[in-house]
Amino acid sequence: MRNIDEKTITQAVLGAMAQCPDPRLLEIMGSLVRHLHNFAREVRLTEPEWEAGIRFLTDTGHITDERRQEFILLSDVLGLSMLVTAQNNARPAGCTEATVFGPFFVEGAPRVENGADIANGAKGTPCYVSGQVRGIGGEPVAGASIDVWQSDEQGLYDVQQPDAAGGHTHRARAQLRSDDQGRFHFRSILAHCYPIPHDGPVGRLLAALGRHPWRPAHLHFMIAAPGYERLITHVFRAGDAYLDSDAVFGVRQSLVADWQRHEPDAQHPGEGGYYTLAYDFVLNPVGGAA
Ligand code: BEZ
Ligand code: FE
Repeated sequence: MRNIDEKTITQAVLGAMAQCPDPRLLEIMGSLVRHLHNFAREVRLTEPEWEAGIRFLTDTGHITDERRQEFILLSDVLGLSMLVTAQNNARPAGCTEATVFGPFFVEGAPRVENGADIANGAKGTPCYVSGQVRGIGGEPVAGASIDVWQSDEQGLYDVQQPDAAGGHTHRARAQLRSDDQGRFHFRSILAHCYPIPHDGPVGRLLAALGRHPWRPAHLHFMIAAPGYERLITHVFRAGDAYLDSDAVFGVRQSLVADWQRHEPDAQHPGEGGYYTLAYDFVLNPVGGAA
């Protein structure tokens, strides 16, 4: 392996890993090397540009810690997260579609009964959410575990508002179970649109590309029940200004729903009144069609 040049380098790298004992790793790394090399050839990558790329990835690593995952954010804004979600969650028509998971899920959210107020002090206009979990055959799915999490009126998740000790109080997130009829309901607050974290390298990249960092208002749901494929999805708010320019490309028309506004009343005297959202989820049985 000497005198390797621009034309022979790709084959040399592929040859160097040909003895890899793991066929899937070989397939993935082989394809990655081919695409990376062809990318560098296609754009005639210069040395300063290669250095800028390395600096960008280094900065992305430096800002990543237990709380902040800038590499996932990078994957999100490049559409890779949604591509991987879409190609691994194809389901029959009629099933609720999946979308990106996002970085704000927290294990161990409070378990609450149906009807509970999950806001727990999060600020916003009251919002009552209800729905039913069904299988594709129309059967109610009783006892489904339903995780829900969302932003507040400032567009912030609880984990973005750490307390003095660096922890956070669970707000506007909870875990509940569907009842015998597959139904669930809870009180929360109206979710707002928000910018994804954009004070780091990914934010600088978006600005350089002339892109904004906003996501349309949504509720996150993760629904799991024995015998059914786990569903990770959002419900988006109809009318949001960012539905057609989501920074992470996660919007599916079937996931857009109307939040009904109601005038203030004795129980909801705030000038914003209150909102209701009704949305049903349809799960695919394990081993069902894709
Ligand atoms: C979210 O919806 O929580 C989210 C998704 C991708 C990047 C940032 C936030
Ligand atoms: Fe979100």
